[in-house]
Amino acid sequence: MSKPFAIVTGASSGIGLELATICAREGFDLLVAADRSDIQSAADRFRDLGAAVTVVEADLAATENVDRLWAAAAGRPVDALLANAGHGLGRAFLDQDFADVRHVIDTNVTGTVYLVQLAGRAMRSRGKGRILLTGSIAGFMPGTYQAVYNGTKAFVDSFSFALRAELKDTGVTVTCLMPGATETDFFETANMLDTKVGASKKQAPEEVAKIGFEAMLRGDGDVVAGWGNKLRQAIANITPSAMLASQHAELAKPGSAA
Ligand SMILES: NC(=O)c1ccc[n+]([C@@H]2O[C@H](COP(=O)([O-])OP(=O)(O)OC[C@H]3O[C@@H](n4cnc5c(N)ncnc54)[C@H](OP(=O)(O)O)[C@@H]3O)[C@@H](O)[C@H]2O)c1
Repeated sequence: MSKPFAIVTGASSGIGLELATICAREGFDLLVAADRSDIQSAADRFRDLGAAVTVVEADLAATENVDRLWAAAAGRPVDALLANAGHGLGRAFLDQDFADVRHVIDTNVTGTVYLVQLAGRAMRSRGKGRILLTGSIAGFMPGTYQAVYNGTKAFVDSFSFALRAELKDTGVTVTCLMPGATETDFFETANMLDTKVGASKKQAPEEVAKIGFEAMLRGDGDVVAGWGNKLRQAIANITPSAMLASQHAELAKPGSAA
């Protein structure tokens, strides 16, 4: 029990798999979660790196499953929460199923903030802890053909800064990792492989995770992964929203990959 302990959600693939891998390499024991059984083989990878690993296979869109995840920590003090689970949803909003829309909101927003509240309260009582939220540079731009997803990431980016300010001087830090397009299962899951952004060359998840992990350890407020994305964010900050929305359409319109 002398090793530090981290909870990593969405640890079965992409950025979360790499975040949990770094945690294991850096000597953390782990509680990891994802919805599908791929999380079991990911857990073996973390064990091979020396971590004691507890696995929860659960849909974190449902708060009762977040309760189950939190219960699996069994009262062990959490040194780091890496709230990373999330997914997108491409296509025009009016053509999406509402159940899918709701699942994006419930995963990226409801389940995430619920887990952050549970872990954050325990960290505040202990006067110590690191929280890393995976937001996105998508939170800075209206996401035409991915409207709801970008809205959820605007929420996460904003929430992260507000919580950080509330926890100032408590010993608990909150960091928002803001990746740009990253080479993961994200675009396939979101049904966006036929879009320009889906087909584009993207950043490696290993690189994005390393940037996020190091920023979390430093206790930085936010980190945009990579210089290209930093530039995109800076331009987005001074570009009218209507213009950003039409630029996003070019990137995310179904069939735009051709
Ligand atoms: N890839 C990008 O371009 C990009 C850019 C900016 C931000 N992000 C953010 O980065 C985070 C990780 O995404 P990724 O790119 O690494 O995609 P990914 O490879 O698809 O990984 C997503 C992870 O989240 C888990 N997950 C999704 N919904 C879940 C749910 N309802 N309950 C439990 N686990 C769930 C997935 O597990 P299951 O497969 O078992 O559901 C998987 O482990 C997300 O928050 C995403 O929004 C991604």
